[in-house]
Amino acid sequence: METRPVKVWDWPVRVTHWSFAVLVPAMWITAENSQMGLHMQIGHVLLALVIFRLIWGFIGTDTARFANFVKGPRVVLAYLRGGYDHQREIGHNPLGALAVLALLGAMGAQVGMGLFAGDPFDGATGPLNPLVGVMTADWLTDTHEWFVYVVFAMIGLHLAAIGVYGVMRMQNLIGPIIVGKAEKAEGVADNSSPSLTALVIAVAVSVAIAAWIYSGAPPLS
Ligand code: HEM
Ligand code: HEM
Repeated sequence: METRPVKVWDWPVRVTHWSFAVLVPAMWITAENSQMGLHMQIGHVLLALVIFRLIWGFIGTDTARFANFVKGPRVVLAYLRGGYDHQREIGHNPLGALAVLALLGAMGAQVGMGLFAGDPFDGATGPLNPLVGVMTADWLTDTHEWFVYVVFAMIGLHLAAIGVYGVMRMQNLIGPIIVGKAEKAEGVADNSSPSLTALVIAVAVSVAIAAWIYSGAPPLS
């Protein structure tokens, strides 16, 4: 079969992805070493990145958009039974799409809980801690402490799935998420190019929301 390098992942998707891969372990290391100042600073960068990826899922390139890759249960089942051909498509397959939602959802939940975590009379607190009562903050702190294992379990599954595709299906998924391109059959179209306006909007909105939360989410009027 004749193949050619086809553009699959735009650079903002790749940069956010590899930032997740570095920053999530950094969050664990800082927490375990009681470096809570650093934990919170990196946490806000992670917050901005998760918000950016969510916005990019609506205004990003074709393969970044949720509407293009999130499919219903019927399609996922058909894919699992081998009745859905993803070979001539680019981007996440219908099963991988669920993993993307689960990974972003779990990271989002962990970051969200961290914002409210802590005890003002004992140690560090997230910027939104004063907005909730002590009982709620306690519950969110406890959940934040164990939910990290749910996040890690999902990352483990993510890596295992990529290994399975590599070994059993002979598909190298890692190369494309690094360099952006994959060898595909002639005739398979490239991903769209990122729009500068969309990029500026997504960066500005995600940084503004993260900065507003960092300062304790004060009333805007
Ligand atoms: C903390 C660790 C990690 C997290 C939270 C994470 C999360 C994610 C997310 C959210 C996506 C979807 C990309 C998007 O559309 O924006 C993704 C895709 C991907 N990740 Fe990771 N990732 C992690 C580590 C890794 C590592 C270490 C590798 C490689 C060894 C890897 C390989 C991939 C690949 C190949 C894809 C594309 C899958 C496809 O072709 O559909 N990830 N990851
Ligand atoms: C993926 C992201 C995150 C991970 C993996 C993570 C992990 C952890 C872990 C494991 C602990 C428990 C430390 C211990 O053993 O006592 C912790 C505590 C904490 N985290 Fe996070 N965290 C994340 C995001 C955040 C964010 C975004 C914030 C706030 C900006 C935050 C604020 C806190 C606070 C205030 C505590 C201390 C709670 C206490 O014991 O009083 N975390 N985090």
